[in-house]
Amino acid sequence: MQHNGAQAMIELLHIYKEIRNDGLVVKILQDVSLSVTGGEFVAIMGPSGSGKSTLMNIIGFLDTATSGNYRFKGTDVSTLTEDELAKYRSSEVGYVFQAFHLLAKTSVLENVKLPLMYHAERRSDQERTTMAKKVIEQVGLGHRLEHLSNQLSGGEKQRVAIARALINNPSLILADEPTGNLDSASGIQIMQILQDLNRQGKTIILVTHESSTAEHARRVVTIRDGAIESDQQVTSQRRAVEETNLK
Ligand SMILES: Nc1ncnc2c1ncn2[C@@H]1O[C@H](COP(=O)(O)OP(=O)(O)OP(=O)(O)O)[C@@H](O)[C@H]1O
Ligand SMILES: [Mg+2]
Repeated sequence: MQHNGAQAMIELLHIYKEIRNDGLVVKILQDVSLSVTGGEFVAIMGPSGSGKSTLMNIIGFLDTATSGNYRFKGTDVSTLTEDELAKYRSSEVGYVFQAFHLLAKTSVLENVKLPLMYHAERRSDQERTTMAKKVIEQVGLGHRLEHLSNQLSGGEKQRVAIARALINNPSLILADEPTGNLDSASGIQIMQILQDLNRQGKTIILVTHESSTAEHARRVVTIRDGAIESDQQVTSQRRAVEETNLK
């Protein structure tokens, strides 16, 4: 294990995922080994069906590998009980998906407060409101607290989804094509929020089809046919150009 804060947060070793369908074995992930250190911003790219979402689900404790080893912050995930896994899902990870999954006809404030209801730590309604307002302001929607989810634009919905992902202060944000349903201006806004969160120390893993989106990350991993094809650091010079272009 490394020191000086460079300890691996995620260590996947020889991960295989297979699914049996009508007696047929579908190989979804094949020998994936990947290590992500706390504070990294990783983009995962690859063709449709290459296994990106499956990999994200395994990383986010929503699915399990058929074989291989997954350590999260040093703990072997396969040793966790269902209760412990539920705790990891609610306190270690914030999930952001392509479809926003907000509660329909429910206010921004209530949508963001919701995960606090499932958290082990019980809080008063007033406390939950204060916490929700803070993260809603962080994504620039302080003026939309009482708007219902169906009264928001796509970009605003995704910002609410990010606020909801942040409410339990997770160390890891998993974003599966978060800009996939958005126009390019809203997409850039979402990427800027993710970059800000990364600067604040959150580890971010982002799945994207678009190379322009992947360039916001510091590392790009490509997957093909369930296996890692390449894993490259994005040079700081390239990022500097990117960030200047955003201003
Ligand atoms: N429950 C399942 N049963 C059978 N096959 C599955 C199942 N879930 C996923 N697959 C297959 O596994 C492969 C990887 O799926 P996955 O959703 O991880 O791909 P992806 O890279 O996220 O694709 P996309 O870019 O389209 O979202 C696909 O070929 C898919 O059809
Ligand atoms: Mg997918």
